[in-house]
Amino acid sequence: MTYKVLISDPLSEDGIFPLREAGDVEIVLETDLSKELLLERIPDFDALLVRSQTQVTREVIEQAANLKVIGRAGVGVDNIDLEAATENGVIVVNAPDGNTNSAAEHTMAMLTSLARKIPQAFYALKQNRWDRKKYVGVELKGKTLGIIGLGRIGAEVAARAKGQRMNVIAYDPFLTEEKAENMGIGYGTFAEVLQAADFITVHTPLLKETKHIINKEAFAMMKDGVQIVNCARGGIIDEDALYNAIVEKKVAGAALDVFEQEPIHHHKLLELPEVIATPHLGASTIEAQKNVAIDVSHDVITILRGGLAQSP
Ligand code: NAD
Ligand code: MLT
Repeated sequence: MTYKVLISDPLSEDGIFPLREAGDVEIVLETDLSKELLLERIPDFDALLVRSQTQVTREVIEQAANLKVIGRAGVGVDNIDLEAATENGVIVVNAPDGNTNSAAEHTMAMLTSLARKIPQAFYALKQNRWDRKKYVGVELKGKTLGIIGLGRIGAEVAARAKGQRMNVIAYDPFLTEEKAENMGIGYGTFAEVLQAADFITVHTPLLKETKHIINKEAFAMMKDGVQIVNCARGGIIDEDALYNAIVEKKVAGAALDVFEQEPIHHHKLLELPEVIATPHLGASTIEAQKNVAIDVSHDVITILRGGLAQSP
């Protein structure tokens, strides 16, 4: 028996070698499919492998008569309709830890760039402006980093921030005082973390409960001049509220890797000099892309052959 696997987002070639070597898998690589083309192609396939670009909606799942498994080469499964998958007997697997390190490193790069205005200064220099007075930053040492969501990535960020001699305080519904103490960080309620932090970084999944948790009311609780990092998911922070908080000088700066709608075109937040951004690059390293593709390829093969893999 041969299983047909559609890969509809770019995945690491090294990472999909388990599928190529499986012997009973036929791979079709078709990225940038329109919604209509995906609907047309999907009934032929036993498995679908995606990153974050392909929107695996209820319509796609209901059209997928032969689909047994959806593999997400990454952590967030918010581009997959999990309810529709469950109702239709389609297993969803992700790669929960293959990109943890890359995402944590990117968060620290964004945090440091934000504090020292590196992208703004570089942009000015590229335009032949040697402007040392305009780009005075702040040190991270001694500042308080508030982490909302202390899972895999949040915990790695906490360890790195301590290395920068920051004080770290976190909120996570599953975090206990004892665990925080063992990690050498502070522990607070959502409000306490917002009130204490000079920098805030969010590392929750995007869920109904976390959508716009950083909103107008949350900004009102923060210190004046707070700086915000989002390398998790667009939608955790209310973009309109962030825009207003920056214009009103409540927030001194924001570093964003993710947006409510991606890709973005002429986003109003990018018009603000206080905002620095990358186009969803948190997991974009050779290592992370290889890791997540290998993990998810193994799981997909196991499931296609009738075995069990871990679901998100
Ligand atoms: P994780 O599941 O290990 O951690 C998420 C944490 O968020 C958990 O500890 C959970 O208890 C906590 N949480 C849930 N609801 C919360 C709430 N209301 N308030 C506070 N905390 C809450 O996931 P992870 O591997 O750390 O990844 C986190 C997210 O980062 C992913 O869901 C994904 O969306 C995003 N991500 C982005 C990139 C990128 O390229 N920018 C890369 C990897 C992951
Ligand atoms: C993830 O959820 O793992 C990230 O968004 C990384 C990605 O797939 O781009």
